[in-house]
Amino acid sequence: MPWKTPAVWSPESWKDRLAAHQVVYHDRAAVDAAVAKLRSLPPLVTSGEIERLRSLIAEAQRGERFLLQGGDCAETLADCRADSIASKLKILLQMSLVLVHGLRKPVIRVGRFAGQYAKPRSSQTETRHGVTLPSYFGDLVNSADFEEEARRPNPHLMVRGYQHAAMTLNFIRSLIDGGFADLHHPEYWDLRFMEHAGLSNELREQYQRMTRELGEALRLTEILGEASIDDLTRIEFFTSHEGLNLQYESAQTRPVPRKSGYFNLTTHLPWIGERTRALDGAHVEYFRGIRNPIGVKIGPACRPSELLELIDVLNPDNEPGRLILIHRMGAAKIMEALPPLLGAVREAPTLKRHVLWVCDPMHGNSQNAGNGVKTRNMNEILAEMESAAEAHRQAGTIFGGLHLELTGEDVTECVGGAAGISEADLTINYASLCDPRLNYQQALEMAFAAARALRSPSAR
Ligand code: PEP
Ligand code: CO
Repeated sequence: MPWKTPAVWSPESWKDRLAAHQVVYHDRAAVDAAVAKLRSLPPLVTSGEIERLRSLIAEAQRGERFLLQGGDCAETLADCRADSIASKLKILLQMSLVLVHGLRKPVIRVGRFAGQYAKPRSSQTETRHGVTLPSYFGDLVNSADFEEEARRPNPHLMVRGYQHAAMTLNFIRSLIDGGFADLHHPEYWDLRFMEHAGLSNELREQYQRMTRELGEALRLTEILGEASIDDLTRIEFFTSHEGLNLQYESAQTRPVPRKSGYFNLTTHLPWIGERTRALDGAHVEYFRGIRNPIGVKIGPACRPSELLELIDVLNPDNEPGRLILIHRMGAAKIMEALPPLLGAVREAPTLKRHVLWVCDPMHGNSQNAGNGVKTRNMNEILAEMESAAEAHRQAGTIFGGLHLELTGEDVTECVGGAAGISEADLTINYASLCDPRLNYQQALEMAFAAARALRSPSAR
């Protein structure tokens, strides 16, 4: 029987539903105090920014823009540092430049940052040498150290997470306002960074050629006085995180003067994870009522009928710019799992569903290396992205964006690719507390590969 949505929604109505992956806090009073504190703090983002992102996503749904979403699997409080934030911003900017140039359309830049602190785990507990403790659920919940005190869920960490998200966002806004990312001077912010990035000569040359061409094109556009120059050069950044901890999300969910509805003001674009998208679950209940654009992760087990129901519950008025479907199938499964979903949404009866299809080629390709370290193979990541391009081409649907786990630093977490990282190299600089991320070079390689795979056939 189709799922019937209850009529009354409030920022707290999710509490009547079963919440998968919710933290079990033992100190109720401390949770109430943390939530009250969060409620009293000013928002991190504004409803105007959220609405702007929704209108950009609506354009991406029409094929006029491309969405690039990327950052850490799990941000940590310790990593709230100038260098790590700036290098994430830089790699996302550089990738977007490659995509703007390759796809000939503007890119919407969305960081997995300023709040990506809560993680779903496959097991609630972790056992080491006969000792069993709660798993690490992200810095919003507990600490990674394998000690009883550190692993106990601590409600006050929600407030600390919020404060660190604010500091992160504050620095990002200042960098951008200060001209850090002025596209008129790509040579200023690119090349210096590339010098110490250990880039292969081939990638460096491709990138240098492209920034030169882009700089010339910008100057030409300016000389000709084209109206679109502003749009091309204005660097905007939006934030996103998995809206997993509903105590945290709902504490900053509020009405805004002179606007209807409720906005989640912790982030521009929250998303529902693959493990928490049950139709009758707490997350779908919470997400259906907020005005933000939202994402949903879709894995290979999702059936077409289930997806259509999910779309209708989450976007009952079929609003453009509201819903992003982030498919994460795995290289081996995508050509079987994705086409039926694309077909079902495209041919859905009565009305055309407005969705933005985004490819996450990371989460279906995790594996354990021989030494037990969690890794991903760059070849599979690239293969999934290329298969997604093919599947969308065949279905006549739009490959609207990429969702990636990456860092601007030279970590060794994913194997393969032009960087030639082997399993033996994984221990050199494995810094992620959660999933393995693309490093600087792998991220840039991915951007070039996506630009190639998605270019219109005539331009290839
Ligand atoms: C994630 O994005 O880190 C994640 C847990 O993804 P998924 O919900 O797709 O497994
Ligand atoms: Co992850």
